Amino acid sequence: MVQTSDILAAAEALKAGELVAFPTETVYGLGGDACSDMAVAAIFAAKGRPQFNPLIMHVESLEKARSFGVFTARALELAERFWPGPLTLVVPKTADCAVSLLATAGLDSVAVRVPAHAEARQLLAAFGGPVAAPSANLSGRLSPTQADHVRDQLGSKVSVIVDGGPTSVGLESTIVSCLTEPPSLLRAGGLARGDIEAALGISLSGGEMEDGKPLSPGQLQHHYAPEAMLRLGAETVEDGEALLAFGPNLPAHKGLMFNLSPSGDLVEAAANLFAHLHELDAKAERIAAMPVPEHGLGEAINDRLRRAAAPRALGL
Ligand code: TXA
Ligand code: MG
Repeated sequence: MVQTSDILAAAEALKAGELVAFPTETVYGLGGDACSDMAVAAIFAAKGRPQFNPLIMHVESLEKARSFGVFTARALELAERFWPGPLTLVVPKTADCAVSLLATAGLDSVAVRVPAHAEARQLLAAFGGPVAAPSANLSGRLSPTQADHVRDQLGSKVSVIVDGGPTSVGLESTIVSCLTEPPSLLRAGGLARGDIEAALGISLSGGEMEDGKPLSPGQLQHHYAPEAMLRLGAETVEDGEALLAFGPNLPAHKGLMFNLSPSGDLVEAAANLFAHLHELDAKAERIAAMPVPEHGLGEAINDRLRRAAAPRALGL
């Protein structure tokens, strides 16, 4: 069973930028400080996920959620009715939202939930800030519902595993976007659609079936796309281009430049990716991006750069 000292140790680890595994009522989460780009990059590195999808922020209360998310009357209705519990709400970010751009994959919206699990709530209260947490499994493996599952897959990558026994729901949270009215179902999960619709007295949009298969969240999800033109694999910089650099060996260039990682560290590059893209997009019309190696987090970085380079053509 869980020891209180584990929870305090886990809160200290989060404050130090380290990763922890903790139980929620749905599945175990692999948590890091949601306001730290490096902690969030470490989450992606630990999972070995080839893509940066936006993560869910976990907080102890609706009040905390409102410090970085904008809650309309409809979003408040859902939060007040179903939190704490297995419901994640996607809401617009506040203007001064401190959550890492990598955690939201550069989007203007943020996914947040208040878990019902007692130890999760103690941990979130002890830490104080939002905790970004995907399920605590390696990419492509089943979501963990017991501490042993986490130990087997990620034991060497987390500082503390808070063991709260088997999870009660065993299925990820239901994700509802409050960016639309009526709200839309982005992912079916631990809270039934019918319960949400009964509480609201209206039908949710989305979650439609196509050829008998449900539309995946990926299809309903928006990707961050810069306004600027992005040229990939750049070995040289052309006139009028700003540079998104990687590593110590830079091409000749006198203008605007942001380096993802001067030392060529892929975790640091991931941590800086969205922040640098946003800065360059605000100041330049054309961006030359240096090649990034395809190993480790490089695969996810390149996936995201390719989407950013061709958003219109791909209709993403
Ligand atoms: O039950 C759960 O939700 C677990 C526990 C640990 O809380 N967490 C979890 O996280 O399942 P994850 O990373 O597997 O799922 C996050 C999903 C993304 O794949 C995406 O579909 C959605 O949340 N998401 C996050 N932010 C979003 C946003 N701004 N807009 C749309 N979808 C978003
Ligand atoms: Mg998962």
